[in-house]
Amino acid sequence: MGSEKYILQTDDLVKRFGGLVAVDHVNLRVKRNTITMLMGPNGAGKSTLVNTCTGVLKPDGGKVIFDGQDITGWPPHEVYRSGFVRTFQIPLPFQFLTVLENVLVALPNSGENPIKAPIRGLWDKEEEENVKRAFEILKMVGLDTHWNWQAFRLGGGQLKMLEVSRALATGAKLIALDEPIGGVDPAYADNILSNIRRLKETLDVSFLLIEHRIDIALPYADYVYVMDRGAVIAEGIPDEIKNNPKVIDVYIGE
Ligand SMILES: Nc1ncnc2c1ncn2[C@@H]1O[C@H](COP(=O)(O)OP(=O)(O)OP(=O)(O)O)[C@@H](O)[C@H]1O
Ligand SMILES: [Mg+2]
Repeated sequence: MGSEKYILQTDDLVKRFGGLVAVDHVNLRVKRNTITMLMGPNGAGKSTLVNTCTGVLKPDGGKVIFDGQDITGWPPHEVYRSGFVRTFQIPLPFQFLTVLENVLVALPNSGENPIKAPIRGLWDKEEEENVKRAFEILKMVGLDTHWNWQAFRLGGGQLKMLEVSRALATGAKLIALDEPIGGVDPAYADNILSNIRRLKETLDVSFLLIEHRIDIALPYADYVYVMDRGAVIAEGIPDEIKNNPKVIDVYIGE
């Protein structure tokens, strides 16, 4: 594990809802340390594809390979534990905890370890290190100055970055974000996307972004997949996608 070119790969992945083929033999490849974008009109199957990869839904065919391991059909908590984290469209941190506390609870800690727990010295040291680590993460996403804010005071875009922080705290290697800039004003959207870009450049982490606002998001993508009616209709680097007549068609037809 850890040496393959792709952090995520699907082979002929299929997901059906009754007669509807929501994911139709999709072969997705997400390279390590990249931002891979998934776009397509409403109902194209983007969320279903990600849900089928992360165990929220069970596939009807095909394979999901994550970090060199076949994770097809794994339950969500096992996919999560293996380092593939999906943050949902609506971020759900602990509203009354501070930004810092929200990251701390996501960091691994041995507080519940019955052997270590009574040994106060070990525990304090670990806590100190966790606070340090949490601050490092918050700094990377631009939330360090808000460390003592309760989560409910954050704006929509900041909440999404808090979700990313929490995913990073768990040691995520691939973070799937469903519309990270949905409902965020353009200036802050650029801020979010440049933070994400910096993360993939500095950490061993990759991103799979589902995005609707392609005018803003496309320049940040390393590679793009376009879906329509369950199938991948185009893939390539942003410039190829922008000029692809099939892509232009589905967006005009929307
Ligand atoms: N749980 C479900 N049961 C039945 N049909 C579903 C279910 N979830 C999604 N679908 C259908 O599967 C298709 C793909 O939906 P999906 O939500 O994956 O699209 P999407 O690309 O994420 O769209 P959007 O951009 O609106 O979020 C749609 O036709 C949708 O109605
Ligand atoms: Mg969706």
